[in-house]
Amino acid sequence: MYSTNQFLKPVTTKINDNGNLEIGGCDLVELAEKYGTPLYVVDEQTLRNICHDYKKAFSAYPKVNMMYASKALCTCAVSAILNQEGFGFDVVSGGEIYTVYKSGADMSKVLFNGNNKSYDELELALDLGIGRVSADNFFELSLLNEIAKSRNKTVDILLRITPGIECHTHEYIQTGHLDSKFGFDLTQIDEAVELIVNEYTNLRLHGLHAHIGSQIFETSIYADEIEILVKELARLREKFGLEPDEINLGGGPGVKYTDADNPPSVYEIAEVIISSLNKNIDKYGIKPPTLYIEPGRSVISTAGVTLYTIGSSKQVPHGRKYAAVDGGMSDNPRPSMYQAEYFAQAANKPAAEPLQTVTIAGRFCESGDILIKDAELPELEEGDILCVFNTGAYNYSMASNYNRVGKPAMVLVNSSQSDMIVKRETLEDLVSHDVIPDKLKGSR
Ligand code: LLP
Repeated sequence: MYSTNQFLKPVTTKINDNGNLEIGGCDLVELAEKYGTPLYVVDEQTLRNICHDYKKAFSAYPKVNMMYASKALCTCAVSAILNQEGFGFDVVSGGEIYTVYKSGADMSKVLFNGNNKSYDELELALDLGIGRVSADNFFELSLLNEIAKSRNKTVDILLRITPGIECHTHEYIQTGHLDSKFGFDLTQIDEAVELIVNEYTNLRLHGLHAHIGSQIFETSIYADEIEILVKELARLREKFGLEPDEINLGGGPGVKYTDADNPPSVYEIAEVIISSLNKNIDKYGIKPPTLYIEPGRSVISTAGVTLYTIGSSKQVPHGRKYAAVDGGMSDNPRPSMYQAEYFAQAANKPAAEPLQTVTIAGRFCESGDILIKDAELPELEEGDILCVFNTGAYNYSMASNYNRVGKPAMVLVNSSQSDMIVKRETLEDLVSHDVIPDKLKGSR
């Protein structure tokens, strides 16, 4: 069965009676006029559909905690939708904790992750009542115990481990151990558990957590991960007489950025995970653990598009043809950081023949600021609206103010209604954190 992460475009995308692209019942050209460009657009229906896919796909396993990895896109409105859909949250900073909190989400369903959480962030997490901390290293165990003790609290933790599996996007390797900045090596787990049992009595261990990579296309990697986690869980029970009964597989399921990508459906992934879990539960003789999964990209990517306005164009003699947009690497750093590829259409003439090969350049002062190399598009002119698909994940969340350019606005579309969920940054916003010492103040 297909799932929504396998689509190139939001599920509501169509060409409307104006001959323009429409998403969520909203004409993209009108959205660009109303809110300006660049503009992030999030289709609520697509987001809710993928949540539904995940819940349905995993319904065959009785104990599943669906967590959304906030790092993919963390705003109050997006968090509120995921909370409504019954998702918890994997968060990695005080900022993400606070955003999820402000959205009104259930904080007991939040898990705090990260390899160098600060004292202040851990305090905030405890004060706001988050459900779990994924303890990453020895330093953190000691810090967390100290904070918990000073508040007379017990903190519920998972141990983040490095399972010896590494995903290089579409292929993976297994090694005895991995050189990773995240988590405890398999050989360090016992020492960590001994500390928790004997010294860090304000920590309560519930289970193990791992994450093997992102934009994963191979489902079998999850089966290998599960075997390692279940085996370790059984070993800890045996050796320490503990009853940890939770395993967190992390995130990773891939999405379709271009026609060349064929990510597996969430249903296939769930089938592999659940059957491997059941097999290993029998093999290692443990009672079924609670399963956590924490996808980010596959939940939000397909729901998001970015609208740009075409400005200058040029034909390099004997070289490429370029068309420049009013955004680029500050609103989407993925092409310049990871050579990521995207698919685009002209929102005001989606039916026009893609007659030219044109490279879509950003507006930032850097040669590497190219959004799409050699795109097949119709003739473009100044004022055309370009829609780049699959920009929901890791675009706004990694956006910067490079070149002192404000971050775009974001709108949520559904049933022909658009609601602004992030305001566009203004010139005043850009200088609002600057301070001029008295001695430098000019006379103007
Ligand atoms: N859990 C943990 C512990 C993670 O480190 C991550 C992502 C996730 C869950 C969510 O993974 P996802 O389902 O989104 O693949 N900026 C990069 C992606 C970095 C992912 C880091 N960790 C990009 O734009 O491709």
